[in-house]
Amino acid sequence: MTHLIKIKPSNHTFEADESESLLDAALRGGLSISYRCTTGACGECKARVVSGQYQFDASHDYKLTEAEKNQNVILMCSVHANSDLVIEAQEARSPADIPRQRIAGRVAKLEKIGSDHIVLHARTPRSQTLRFLAGQYVTLSLDGAPSRDMAVASCPCNGMVLQFHVQRDDNDSFADCVFHHLTTGSNVIIEGPFGEFTLDEESRRPIVMVAQDTGFAPMKSLVEHAIALDLQQSMLLFWVAGADKAHYLSNYCRSWEDALDRFVYIPLTLSAAKDLDVAYAEIVQQIISRSPIESEIDLYLATPSPLGNLIADAFSAKGTPRSRIAITGTC
Ligand code: FES
Repeated sequence: MTHLIKIKPSNHTFEADESESLLDAALRGGLSISYRCTTGACGECKARVVSGQYQFDASHDYKLTEAEKNQNVILMCSVHANSDLVIEAQEARSPADIPRQRIAGRVAKLEKIGSDHIVLHARTPRSQTLRFLAGQYVTLSLDGAPSRDMAVASCPCNGMVLQFHVQRDDNDSFADCVFHHLTTGSNVIIEGPFGEFTLDEESRRPIVMVAQDTGFAPMKSLVEHAIALDLQQSMLLFWVAGADKAHYLSNYCRSWEDALDRFVYIPLTLSAAKDLDVAYAEIVQQIISRSPIESEIDLYLATPSPLGNLIADAFSAKGTPRSRIAITGTC
């Protein structure tokens, strides 16, 4: 049976089945609830029930005081709803609200996409999942390779299995390690999260996103988070691939088009036959001409320089305020 949970003071809501913890349901609903261990040990997910019926799991190590019990303080990771609930809980409002974490994880899967891309799935211990906001990045350290900043390509609703997109590059020792030496079960140290490239969850303006090559990774996280939040505005995703590169997860984008009423995916490719400056100018023109009214959008760019700056300048000249242009070069 499913119940409606309302959080104070934000008035955010989410649905929780009786069989799942309030924390799992809130994260699935796209909310950035404060938590750490997910197993009832740390007390980080404390909240207070204002009204409604609930039930604690039999086992949780963290001891609430008698005063807390009398005030209906709960651990969201260890409580299930038995009715609709109103609760007071802490939510992250910005990257500054998310603590830095260092997690020793393992490579869970190396998923080859075509010949030039690998989706690296890293798994954290269940008692130490990664808390992050969609669009942020972490520093990955692998045995036998220099550390690398990588955008998390998956949704914050699952902090235990994290995805990263790696492009083949034989001149890059990190990519070389992933393609030729890394195996399932290898150690991976995850530090972070970092970065201000996050979704404006309060905005109701149309969203325009431009990704270049593996810039698709942070965009995928943003889109999955927007879906979890059930945002209703239109989303337009341009994915620009280099002349010799692939839109390696195009089918994934098309599945969003099929599932969402207001999602449009447009793959673009840089022309190999032209001077790079001319090819960039053509891409910018195509993006501008196919976007909604520029002054009324939120623009997200995961396009390294120079293309990212060219697109930002073009939208800015057409009336998009700079404050509504988010840009990241970490992919
Ligand atoms: S997240 Fe640690 S007790 Fe709930």
